Amino acid sequence: MPKPKFYLTTPIYYVNARPHIGHTYTTIVADTIARYKRMRGFEVVLLTGTDEHGQKVEQSARAAGKGPQEFADEVAADYRQLWQTLGLDYDRFLRTTEPRHAKAVQTIFQAVEKAGYIHKGKYEGQYCVFDELYVTDATPEGNCPECGRPTQRVEEENYFFQLSVFQDKLLAHYEKHPEFIRPESRRNEVMSFVRGGLRDLSISRSRLRWGIPLPGREGHVFYVWFDALTSYMSGIGYGAEGAAAEEYRRLWPADLHLVGKEIVRFHAVYWPAFLMAAGLPLPKMIFAHGWWVFEQQKMSKSRGNIVRPQPIHQVLGTDALRYFLLREMVFGQDSNFSYDALLTRYNSDLANDYGNLASRTLTMIERYFNGVIPAPDASTDDLEHDKDIWIAANGAIDHFTRCFDNYMFSRGLDFVWHLINTVNRYLVVTHPWKLAKDESKRARLATVLWNAAESLRIVTALLSPVMPAATDRIWRQLGLAGSPKSVRLDDSRNKLDWGQLAPSTRIGKIEPVFPRLDKNQAIKKIQQLEAEEFAAQTAAAQPTARKGGSVAEVEQTRISIEDFAKVEMRVGEVKSAERVAGANKLLKLLVDIGSETRQIVAGIAETYSPEQLLGKKIVVVVNLQPRKLRGVESNGMLVAASVGAEGRPVLATFAEDVEVGARLK
Ligand code: MSP
Repeated sequence: MPKPKFYLTTPIYYVNARPHIGHTYTTIVADTIARYKRMRGFEVVLLTGTDEHGQKVEQSARAAGKGPQEFADEVAADYRQLWQTLGLDYDRFLRTTEPRHAKAVQTIFQAVEKAGYIHKGKYEGQYCVFDELYVTDATPEGNCPECGRPTQRVEEENYFFQLSVFQDKLLAHYEKHPEFIRPESRRNEVMSFVRGGLRDLSISRSRLRWGIPLPGREGHVFYVWFDALTSYMSGIGYGAEGAAAEEYRRLWPADLHLVGKEIVRFHAVYWPAFLMAAGLPLPKMIFAHGWWVFEQQKMSKSRGNIVRPQPIHQVLGTDALRYFLLREMVFGQDSNFSYDALLTRYNSDLANDYGNLASRTLTMIERYFNGVIPAPDASTDDLEHDKDIWIAANGAIDHFTRCFDNYMFSRGLDFVWHLINTVNRYLVVTHPWKLAKDESKRARLATVLWNAAESLRIVTALLSPVMPAATDRIWRQLGLAGSPKSVRLDDSRNKLDWGQLAPSTRIGKIEPVFPRLDKNQAIKKIQQLEAEEFAAQTAAAQPTARKGGSVAEVEQTRISIEDFAKVEMRVGEVKSAERVAGANKLLKLLVDIGSETRQIVAGIAETYSPEQLLGKKIVVVVNLQPRKLRGVESNGMLVAASVGAEGRPVLATFAEDVEVGARLK
């Protein structure tokens, strides 16, 4: 019998910024679901990718002094590199700048147009570049209601999609398929948005060059969301010919689009309407998860409250991060990210509970049975205690499966921890170390340790989609062949059941998988790595002078005088300077900028000593959003040249004495 298919997608990530914990979260959840569904017997295909067109990307590239394609190439490579470092697997990766994607976007457009849903019209109003969205309900100050950023006025002739005619069809679809939008709260939101009436949607842009051209419409490129959503189909062969389209025919419609809550409208309203118009089947489910907030706000580069995954990976390993993110957040709701909670969960759930269960069980098997799993002896069963773990183990398998089938990760993990805690308690009350001292209790000792080892096997198999690397290691330490990935959570022959652990198996080499860590030291280390990474990126992100760039390249990266005027630079004088504890590259300065004295943290400690800077007149960018570095607020930025291959910072100063506070123009 062929396996049933399960096609799932993450959103494709904008390349205007480098990945942070929020993006990593969506990918970790997708990777976990893919692994879980494979254990449930599905043939899984997971698609991810990068969203590379649009005004936002064009602007970010310009700010970095790069062409949009070069810029997109770098960030797309960053994403792939990060997923590889973190061991996140995907089956298909789609970049929207690939020719196969352009072809697919044009194909779906032609189908929609042929069906009569495209017309030419004029848009006059506000536009939010950050959300790539026309804003009809700007705040009184003219800001975007979604993200709060200022909008800009635009007037353009565009091609419109007749979204308005799909209102009833969409509502009927939501009614008929309650599982189409999850969780329920998002479904209600979307339904009331659609009931409020839908306006036709402009799907082309004439002001923009960085996009996919509309076929036969010179000067127009596709609206970035029309372009981006199609990636879910182009990445598996839609728009291709012959055999190349076979995968599309096999996999579409998608079984699950995993998205964050802020993009649910694009996925649950626009996307199904485009598909209906083109006469194509709709995805089966859109699941919108909540946000990781840090310091009470959604993480964003401009707020400077970003948590990066690499430093956590370096200190705790990816599995601990995966576990924390899935256990801590109730899937669908927002959750606060804190290093304290991360380390608490690491030490208590992983080191103390799971890690301890593994190490004490294996160590006793090593010590009392020479490293060979003993055979249980039914005549020594002690129902009062043994029954608890049989019940907990069967309950864990059933409840975990039920919860994960419904994307209730946190609750599913609770059931596994109930089993872990039950077995740890069992080892306390049955005290095998005492049994080992009495030769007549040897059979009972064998039963107790077999029960513990069998529970450990079940726990490890269930946790494998969440912590693939750590569970592989514990599996091998249990002496089991292959990997827990091959255990099946369906009705096949490999089905996970109590009682399958074969006695006489020789266990492997025992090594701690989650060593206990000093909480404060670990947090300090993570934050130090974070500050170093930030300093390195800031240096790398400085626009570099182009050597021998063509006139066209230079033209493309030029900005207007108005753009330049947005950056306010002033002469500042350094009043005090000190090193930031634990961060080799950072100095904390107090800088007089005329109107006030600012605290600024700068990554220049390897070039300048604090003493060298006292009284120095330097250039300060004063209107940047404040951000925190190693927990220290930085309110401004020093201007420095980035010199040599390693980007050594050299501060800009003045040839003659200048007044503090004077503006640079
Ligand atoms: N490019 C669009 C998606 C197009 S899909 C056809 C986009 N990209 S994004 O890079 O901005 O976001 C990608 C995903 O990361 C979204 O699902 C978003 O919700 C998620 N996250 C970004 N920041 C987040 C948090 N702070 N917390 C949790 N997830 C968030 O939108």
